[in-house]
Amino acid sequence: METVVSGIRSTGKLHLGNYYGALSNFVKMQNDYNCFFFIADLHSLTTHPTPENLYNTVRQVVVEYLAAGIDPEKSTIYIQSHVPEVAELYLYMNMNAYLGELERATAFKDKVRANPDNVNAGLLTYPVLMACDILLHHGTKVPVGKDQEQHLEMTRTFGNRFNRLYNVDYFKEAFAFTYSDKLVKVPGLDGNGKMGKSNGDASCVYLSDAPEIIRKKVMRAVSDSGPTEINQPKPEPIQNLFDLMKIVSSADTLQHFEDLYNKCEIRYGDFKKQLAEDMVLATTPVYSRIKEISEDEEYLQKVIRLGAEKARESATKTMKEVREIIGFRPF
Ligand code: TYM
Repeated sequence: METVVSGIRSTGKLHLGNYYGALSNFVKMQNDYNCFFFIADLHSLTTHPTPENLYNTVRQVVVEYLAAGIDPEKSTIYIQSHVPEVAELYLYMNMNAYLGELERATAFKDKVRANPDNVNAGLLTYPVLMACDILLHHGTKVPVGKDQEQHLEMTRTFGNRFNRLYNVDYFKEAFAFTYSDKLVKVPGLDGNGKMGKSNGDASCVYLSDAPEIIRKKVMRAVSDSGPTEINQPKPEPIQNLFDLMKIVSSADTLQHFEDLYNKCEIRYGDFKKQLAEDMVLATTPVYSRIKEISEDEEYLQKVIRLGAEKARESATKTMKEVREIIGFRPF
C-alpha cells in the first residue's frame, strides 16, 4: 500500500484553503492508503510564536483534523516535534541542499518580500525540513494545495541526490496529490491572491467561523459595480468569487450566476448570499464538531500519544537505515 504524508503548519485556525487544498483530501485518502498526517509545529517556528501561542495553535489544528473526519484508527495523526528523528534527518539532508536552489524557491522569495526583517536560516531551509517529513516515512503521495508543488519537486531532488551520493535506491519519489483534475488554489475574499492567514482575517473563511460570521465576511468581500457589457471578462476580485463558488456550490448554481453575469443581469448581493449559504453548508459538519472535540482533553491526549508512537516507529526504522547508509556505524 502506498504511503501518504502531509502536514499543516500550526499557525492558527484552518481556513477553506487548507480544507480544499489539503484536509478534505486527507479525509478521503485515509481509506485507501497508509496515511501520516501531522501538525507542522517545527515549521511554524520561522515566525517565532510565543510558547502559549504555539501550544494553542497546535492543539487547534489537532482538533480541526479530528473535526474534519480524520480517524486516528485509520491514520497516524501526530505532532511533528514529537518525532525528533525528523530533526536529525534534516541535519543530514541540509548537507546536501544548496544555497542557490533554496534561494530560488518561490515561497522563500515571497516570504523575503513580505517580511524582509525575518529572513532566518529556518525559512531558507524550510523545503529541506518538508522533504524530511515526507522521506522519513517513505511517502509517495502528498495531498497539498497548488502553492506546495515546487516544494514537492525539491523533495524529489533531495531524495534523488541522497540516493546518488550514497549509490543506493533508498528514497522514493513523492508527488503532490489531489482528487480533482489539478492542484487547488483557493482564492481569498480580499480581491487578490490566495486565501491565507498572512492576507488577513477578512480574506479567510475559517472552518471554526460561525455561520453568521461567514455571511458577514462574504457580503463584505471585494467586488465592483458589475459588468457593463455582454460577456465581459471578469476582473480578478469577481473571478475569485466565481472560483470560490466553483469549489463550494453545485455546477447548476455556478452556471446560473455565470449566465446572469454574461447577460449583465447579475446582482452581487444575491450572488454573495448564495455563495455564503453554500460555504455555511460546506463547513457546518466540521464546525459543529469542533467545540465538542476541543473539550475532550482525554481523547485528544490519547490520539496524540498513539500518533507519536506510530510515527516514531516508522521514523526510527528509517533513521537506523539512513545512519547505516551514511556510514555512522557502531564501533
Ligand atoms: P501551510 O500550513 O501553509 O498549508 C497547509 C496546506 O494547506 C494548503 N493551502 C492551500 N491550498 C489551496 N488554496 C489555498 N489558498 C491554500 N492555503 C493553504 C497548502 O497547500 C498545504 O497543503 N509547507 C506545508 C506544510 C508542510 C508539509 C510538509 C506539507 C510541512 N511539511 C510535508 C506536506 C508534506 C504548508 O504549506 O503548510
